Amino acid sequence: MRLIFFSDPVHPHLPDTAFQTEVAAAKALDLAFDVISYESLIAHKNDSFETLPVLRKNEICILRGWMLTPAQYSSLFTALERHQRILVNTPDAYRHCHYLPENYDIIQNHTAFTVFLPVDSVGFHIDQVFDTVRTFGSAPIVLKDYVKSQKHEWLTACFIPNASDNTNVQQVVNRFLELQGSDLNEGLCFRAFLDFEQVGHHAQSGVPLMREFRQFYFDGQLIARFPYWDQGSYGSDVPDPSLFLSVATRIKSRFFSMDIARLKSGHWKIIELGDGQVTGLPENAHRLDFFKALKDRT
Ligand SMILES: Nc1ncnc2c1ncn2[C@@H]1O[C@H](COP(=O)(O)OP(=O)(O)O)[C@@H](O)[C@H]1O
Ligand SMILES: [Mg+2]
Repeated sequence: MRLIFFSDPVHPHLPDTAFQTEVAAAKALDLAFDVISYESLIAHKNDSFETLPVLRKNEICILRGWMLTPAQYSSLFTALERHQRILVNTPDAYRHCHYLPENYDIIQNHTAFTVFLPVDSVGFHIDQVFDTVRTFGSAPIVLKDYVKSQKHEWLTACFIPNASDNTNVQQVVNRFLELQGSDLNEGLCFRAFLDFEQVGHHAQSGVPLMREFRQFYFDGQLIARFPYWDQGSYGSDVPDPSLFLSVATRIKSRFFSMDIARLKSGHWKIIELGDGQVTGLPENAHRLDFFKALKDRT
């Protein structure tokens, strides 16, 4: 197994400092890695690939980097393939975990009921939003796009206490669209609000922190789990490792993350999936254990 890190924009031969603790763990485990330029990738310039050391045969590679659009991931996949580096997840697998509507069929019995509204270049009329959320009646809902929310703007751009309050729905949707700007991912997801246990409030944004864990799976097996938040009082309660294993084996990706949280009723629910290569590690995550788990499986 070989790792790929994105470079520091100022020092293109060095990994970005955001990944320095991961790079240190990779070095400690003697894992080979390459450094490529994210800026070149998104500008469609492939110069950072030309300087990659030549490999004699194809090697499975795992990216540790920023979130990419499926189109960017696909061009990265192809460019690396030309250099004998085969990313662990195909472009289809990346898309499958990156976009909620792509994996919703598989996780729907274990996650919040969700309705989707695609947003194309023409945009949409607010009446389409009202029609879309009508199914929730006057229940509370949560808004995100196909990938990300504005969770730190919980009350103004994420949480809608009453789905039938058109004025508030319009305000929250507009604020969300304003904050996402050109980073909006494909469309809107309206999700039933679930009554999760809280472990505190975020010190900076004040958002409620749910008892949420980030789990990583490789070839259908749980390989790592961390408290999602670095703040809050989690206590010693952790989810059973066998939870959602049968769902995990149906996810069409070799390496992905699954965020889960516990309801006040005690049941666990899936919040979202992500491609394992671009899912961040919480600060509390033990980097050495994480990369050792990957090394043992590849
Ligand atoms: N259905 C839901 N009910 C209640 N809270 C939710 C729900 N979905 C998400 N959340 C809360 O909002 C946060 C952000 O949602 P998430 O889907 O993970 O978006 P992001 O990709 O921005 O992290 C979660 O960490 C959780 O605290
Ligand atoms: Mg999340």
